[in-house]
Amino acid sequence: MAKSGKQNKALPIYVLNGPTLNLLGTREPEIYGRTTLAEIGRQVAARAKTHGLGVVFRQSNHEGELVDWIQEARLKGSGVILNAAAYTHTSVAIYDALRSLEKPIIEVHLSNPHAREPFRHRSFVSKVATGVICGLKEQGYLAAVDAMAVLITPDAAASRSKAQS
Ligand code: DQA
Repeated sequence: MAKSGKQNKALPIYVLNGPTLNLLGTREPEIYGRTTLAEIGRQVAARAKTHGLGVVFRQSNHEGELVDWIQEARLKGSGVILNAAAYTHTSVAIYDALRSLEKPIIEVHLSNPHAREPFRHRSFVSKVATGVICGLKEQGYLAAVDAMAVLITPDAAASRSKAQS
């Protein structure tokens, strides 16, 4: 039983990170901040625990591995928080994998891609995301966990499947 007294009955949230996010902390800190991905992972797990939720937190530089993990979340996760990094702007493979997820999807970016180069303004993830959080650095991941905790409640899931039928 989690400290909050809530039971950890839900499947874990998958928090997936794309290419070059392994370098957070030293990579362009003026854009992405100085917090490492490992630290973000710790903060995310702590925040999820306050909701009685577990987290699968992963990073890959490889598109296919991210696709595999999205497919894994289809069976083993309650929802996906995704920072697909550069693949956000290019990957039809990730878009297709997300389309078949049938679970809440929250797209997260540390920076605000809309205030950056034009090639970052297009997102394949946004086309299928339940919601998008960007520009809040690591706080965006924590806001996404709070939002996901609401989205995966049985009531929210029931009204989603009603809306789809
Ligand atoms: C990013 C924004 C992307 O445009 C970029 O390619 C990244 C990181 C972000 O978190 O701000 O690698 O997803």
